[in-house]
Amino acid sequence: MRSKPPFTRVSPDVKLGRRVGIVGWANLYGCSVGDDAKIGPFVEIQKGASVGRRVKVSSHSFICEGVTIEDDCFIGHGVIFINDKYPVAVKEGALTKDGDWTVVETKVCRGASIGSGAVILCGVTIGARALVGAGAVVTRDVAPGARVAGVPARATAKARATARAWR
Ligand SMILES: CC(C)(COP(=O)(O)OP(=O)(O)OC[C@H]1O[C@@H](n2cnc3c(N)ncnc32)[C@H](O)[C@@H]1OP(=O)(O)O)[C@@H](O)C(=O)NCCC(=O)NCCS
Repeated sequence: MRSKPPFTRVSPDVKLGRRVGIVGWANLYGCSVGDDAKIGPFVEIQKGASVGRRVKVSSHSFICEGVTIEDDCFIGHGVIFINDKYPVAVKEGALTKDGDWTVVETKVCRGASIGSGAVILCGVTIGARALVGAGAVVTRDVAPGARVAGVPARATAKARATARAWR
């Protein structure tokens, strides 16, 4: 995809796969996006972020530096990733810049889904095929195949019951 829809910025340093769909009003720079991924409107993907193949990113989501999203993941609307747990605007009287802080990485493993409005704190791994509920705040790792919701995100009662039934 090299013919950009209007009001979309895909900077020249973006590694864009084949057949990537970008709906419009997106801002992508210094990141990579795999083949057949679909990026909704008003999405920002920052430098150093990696989005895999066949990933769907819904509108208004923010994918920051340090985030890796593996193949086949679903990212709902307005999902916010975080890469600095203790942010400050100013250091020694001047605005902070790259190098004044350390990016904390986050990984979303293959086939996981993240519901709309979720906030993903930094330094966590969301396991393969896990499902994060809408509006959740994820503060720790989510096991592969787990279903979590709430603030802070914990396994839903139904998911816990299903897990018990399988024991
Ligand atoms: C969490 C979710 C996956 C449902 O999981 P589930 O295990 O089937 O849970 P249930 O629907 O049986 O609900 C279990 C309980 O959790 C509550 N619950 C459901 N979703 C919730 C959520 N996102 N946050 C907080 N609580 C939630 C229910 O109210 C219910 O509470 P109760 O037992 O007190 O009545 C689903 O509600 C959800 O949020 N999916 C994401 C949808 C989305 O964002 N899609 C984006 C594209 S439109």
